[in-house]
Amino acid sequence: MKTRTRLIGGTAGALALAAAGAVLADIGDDDELIINGEIEIVTGAPAPDFVEGLSTIYSGWVFRSPETQAMEQDDFENPAMIYVDQAREMFDTPMGSEGQSCSSCHEGGPEEFEMVRATYPQWDEEHGEVQTVEMQVNECLTERMGAEPLDWNGQDMRNMTALISAVGRGQIVDVAIDGPAQSTWEQGEELYYTRFGQLELSCASCHEQNYGNLIRADHLSQGQINGFPTYRLKDANIVSIHNRFRGCIRDTRAETFAIGSPEFIALELYVASRGNGLSVEGPAVRN
Ligand code: HEC
Ligand code: HEC
Repeated sequence: MKTRTRLIGGTAGALALAAAGAVLADIGDDDELIINGEIEIVTGAPAPDFVEGLSTIYSGWVFRSPETQAMEQDDFENPAMIYVDQAREMFDTPMGSEGQSCSSCHEGGPEEFEMVRATYPQWDEEHGEVQTVEMQVNECLTERMGAEPLDWNGQDMRNMTALISAVGRGQIVDVAIDGPAQSTWEQGEELYYTRFGQLELSCASCHEQNYGNLIRADHLSQGQINGFPTYRLKDANIVSIHNRFRGCIRDTRAETFAIGSPEFIALELYVASRGNGLSVEGPAVRN
């Protein structure tokens, strides 16, 4: 089925990837993520069949230091939770010409969206396209509330997607890749194995062939998105999926795609599906 080369060969040297056997040996040992003493998170699972290069998939949490890991175990320690609280307020605030809030229609509150993070991006019949959570939120704002769309990467949208993840924590990611979504998924898969930039690296070069290894003093994870939006200690804020994709492509010294572009929507669908079997974990805490 696939004809692409997957070996990073000579380019690995350019990146000075250092083997870090210690981390790999640790994976899956006694690391257990239970949030607030009650939400059990699956951080390792058998890889979906289509991921030929991996036998086990791991959450990015597994690769972080014990201190960073601990921040995610308790909502009082997780700095992302203030953004979730801000989104809860927004949920009850009227917006747009109809004078409605999200809760005017979603009377069960954000908890109605328990299955959303685990199953998006997904095909939207009415619009004939694959929709991300951001697109679905903007659909409600513009088509149902008479409001302006939120900026995909703006604080309000990141807050709302963090809330939608938070209420879905513990659900097993189960993104559909067949049916009408299949061609978008295939486009995403193609992108995942495309080598970008001067360094000629694909997502797979780092996240499939070198996870567990050290790169610039950071342990490479498998680049899963089950923890998004994630709170990044480096940015002291929550980061969207597409912003993370953009940063990774830039690191290969390549021109990147725009946040919200068809390319990133396809890539998101594909990367989400590589996490089928892990738990929704967002908003997670990362470096
Ligand atoms: C006027 C009524 C109305 C308002 C107000 C509204 N929605 Fe919706 N929303 C709907 C309907 C109807 C659907 C289901 C249609 C669909 O899936 O396309 C939906 C679907 C959704 C879904 C997907 C649920 C799923 O299971 O796939 C999300 C997420 C969502 N809305 C978020 C929001 C947010 C956030 C707001 C406030 C910014 C909001 N909605 C405001 C009517 C509304
Ligand atoms: C040069 C190596 C490199 C390449 C190529 C690369 N990344 Fe990354 N990526 C990193 C590093 C380093 C991190 C931060 C540590 C980690 O979580 O792996 C990271 C983090 C991530 C994360 C966050 C994971 C988490 O749990 O928070 C995602 C998602 C991601 N990358 C996706 C991608 C995608 C998709 C591509 C291809 C477009 C890509 N990356 C290409 C190096 C790379």
